[in-house]
Amino acid sequence: MAHHQLKHVLSTKQFLNKRLLANLFRTADELARKDKTGRLHKILTGKILASVFYEPSTRTRFSFEAAMLKLGGTVITTESASHFSSVIKGESLPDTIKIISGYVDVIVLRHHEEGSAQIAAEASSVPIINAGDGSGEHPTQALLDLYTLKKELGRTDKLKIALIGDLLYGRTIHSLLNLLMLYKNTKIYLVSPPQLRLPAKYKSQLKQNGIYFEETSDLYKNLDEMDVLYVTRIQKERFGNLRQYEKLKGSYVINKVALKRLKRHAIIMHPLPRVKEVAAEVDDDPRAAYFRQARNGLYIRMALLDLIIKK
Ligand code: NCD
Repeated sequence: MAHHQLKHVLSTKQFLNKRLLANLFRTADELARKDKTGRLHKILTGKILASVFYEPSTRTRFSFEAAMLKLGGTVITTESASHFSSVIKGESLPDTIKIISGYVDVIVLRHHEEGSAQIAAEASSVPIINAGDGSGEHPTQALLDLYTLKKELGRTDKLKIALIGDLLYGRTIHSLLNLLMLYKNTKIYLVSPPQLRLPAKYKSQLKQNGIYFEETSDLYKNLDEMDVLYVTRIQKERFGNLRQYEKLKGSYVINKVALKRLKRHAIIMHPLPRVKEVAAEVDDDPRAAYFRQARNGLYIRMALLDLIIKK
């Protein structure tokens, strides 16, 4: 896919192109370098980003907004968009987006319904960036995740990756899997309680793409072979039945005991926020990559804004 064809960012399926990814990562590297030496160009002066969030967020919203500000643009925001309309139905979203897209140059949208970003894109006259649509996707998170693999391990292929936690509802998992399918020699270990297994549609895509994967509920089964632990929060807000959540919430904890089993050069990632699935005692271990990962988000989001906002 050529750069100029990338209008919206809705799914990581738009990024299944190694050259596009390499360009994006190179731009992120360059922006990081310039930021650190105070030499960033204000390439987005006069441009406006609207962040429209119907679900809570800290990192995603702030990192997009900081990215925009650092590039010279400005930001308008509504962080609790759902409070403005008690029943969010499909029909209200296109109207909202139609209006906002008349005011700004890019819209970052987080919404609780799967498919909402696509609906918004159809109504919008400016690029829509999907910052999470229910249990669907969270493409910019997956891009920064892949960028983190590259930076931390020096490669994105020939990896054994354990995806741990809520594989059913975790949208960062869904988006990341699309990208990992680009690398045929990746081995994926799906670690979840039986109730929170990866949806069948993703498993059949893994099969179609010839990607090796295993499902287990036992965190310790292959732990000592893993290059990457990608740990996720059990997505409380997606449960209809909170008793079920209570039962599953403590399923996995990465702690010092787990660290002992892990390879010396493995890394632990987490999109954050964590609840208790990564113990604080892990934070000081050099393999704990999640805070570096969050920081990488700033530069990936700057690179994406640079790529999609018309100048
Ligand atoms: C994730 C999300 O919103 O899907 N958070 C984030 O953007 N880093 C993960 C989560 O909420 O568990």
